[in-house]
Amino acid sequence: MPAVVIVGAQWGDEGKGKATDLIADRIDYVVKFNGGNNAGHTVVIGDEKYALHLLPSGILTPGVIPVISNGVVIDPEVLIEELDALSARGIDVSKLVISSHAHIITQYHRTLDKVTERFLGKRQIGTTGRGIGPTYADKINRVGIRVQDIFDEGILRQKVEGALGQKNHLLVKIYNRRAIEVDEVVNDLLSYAERLRPMVQDTALLLHTALEEGKTVLFEGGQATMLDVDHGTYPFVTSSNATAGGAATGAGIAPWRLATVIGIVKAYTTRVGSGPFPTELDDEFGEFLRKNGHEFGTTTGRPRRCGWYDAPIARYSARINGVTDFVLTKLDVLTGLEKIPVCVAYEVDGERVEEIPWSQSDFHHAKPIYEYFPGWSEDISGAREFDDLPQNARDYVLAVEGMSGARISAIGVGPARDAIITRHPLLD
Ligand code: GDP
Ligand code: IMO
Ligand code: MG
Repeated sequence: MPAVVIVGAQWGDEGKGKATDLIADRIDYVVKFNGGNNAGHTVVIGDEKYALHLLPSGILTPGVIPVISNGVVIDPEVLIEELDALSARGIDVSKLVISSHAHIITQYHRTLDKVTERFLGKRQIGTTGRGIGPTYADKINRVGIRVQDIFDEGILRQKVEGALGQKNHLLVKIYNRRAIEVDEVVNDLLSYAERLRPMVQDTALLLHTALEEGKTVLFEGGQATMLDVDHGTYPFVTSSNATAGGAATGAGIAPWRLATVIGIVKAYTTRVGSGPFPTELDDEFGEFLRKNGHEFGTTTGRPRRCGWYDAPIARYSARINGVTDFVLTKLDVLTGLEKIPVCVAYEVDGERVEEIPWSQSDFHHAKPIYEYFPGWSEDISGAREFDDLPQNARDYVLAVEGMSGARISAIGVGPARDAIITRHPLLD
């Protein structure tokens, strides 16, 4: 089983970091293939809690080679800060490899992210403000700065000049901000060159060679299916492909290698930022989930919007990603509820709709149709076998599995590393 992908099946924060950590001791390489430091993965190891943003979670496992591939956008300052903070806690970060093709987030991308959001007012996306969208926009517009450019001052200056020529007009004339100096940006980027140079490689070649040698490579998706720029709730999405296909283009490996796709899905749903969310709860149950699930953003600290499990979303994710196994996380958070609603379909303009409507407007006003399952009150955080769970919890898992389009192979019952039930091994 040489290539494995982990993707989020909802709107992010499903517990992908913990799932990566769970299998990381059996893999050789872990690759972040999309997004940037908009991601936030919390991994709890013993008494230690790690919050990772730009680095893949697999970096916490000794012996694994962490890779940041071409599909990622890198803020060099954040990268270095994160590396130094982990080193200071005794984590070996010396094996990190980064792609020469990855794009760089600069000061003007961060500024543009914030000002465009402010300009959108009520229509804002609720981005993380890290410069992700503007950096991907420049990549697609062919005016981006890549990692390799910081090793060639002449080219770097040319590219920054080109980009700022346009952007300063925008910043000054439209957004009423000060112009950004070319020198300021160039000097800042050059200051990282020496530190980054030893890490930079052709990561597509590195991963191809590793896969040919039979090494196991884990592709760790940031964000999630419903935040994917093509398949998510556009425009309320991130600017990269967070679905399994993104691993092929985002790392430069052949699509046929991605035979194992692990979808991470929470036993309920959360979302950060704006956009449609049919099962969202604006009542004491929403508060219950937020409080018990500690649903506050790892990156921005924002309270996450909370709602019930949405089976059409899980089914959609299973289909778009080709999910072979789901990991159902945070089942423990539902403990104490008398009955647990699960969205099985939607009502759109008085009609029952089984799948996510193709029209974003319809999805905006889709009302969830619920089926109700009896809850449980026993503490399940110590359960390690499926049969350790109370009958009602087992029934909930089996019901959800039946509606979600792929088998549920593991179940999270607490934040701790070992708080997990394995029903089918995720790796052979
Ligand atoms: P990611 O972005 O998908 O990696 O997820 P986050 O780290 O942003 O959010 C998931 C949070 O849930 C983290 O704080 C994890 O420690 C925690 N977590 C993961 N699995 C479980 C679980 O099964 N139960 C509970 N209670 N917490 C979990
Ligand atoms: P992980 O990897 C949850 C959301 C933001 C915003 C939208 C666009 O931890 O699951 P961006 O800054 O990417 O342009 O913001 O996407 N968002 C996330 N929500 N988890 C994440 O990552 C997210 N990364 C981005 O809140 O709505
Ligand atoms: Mg997160």
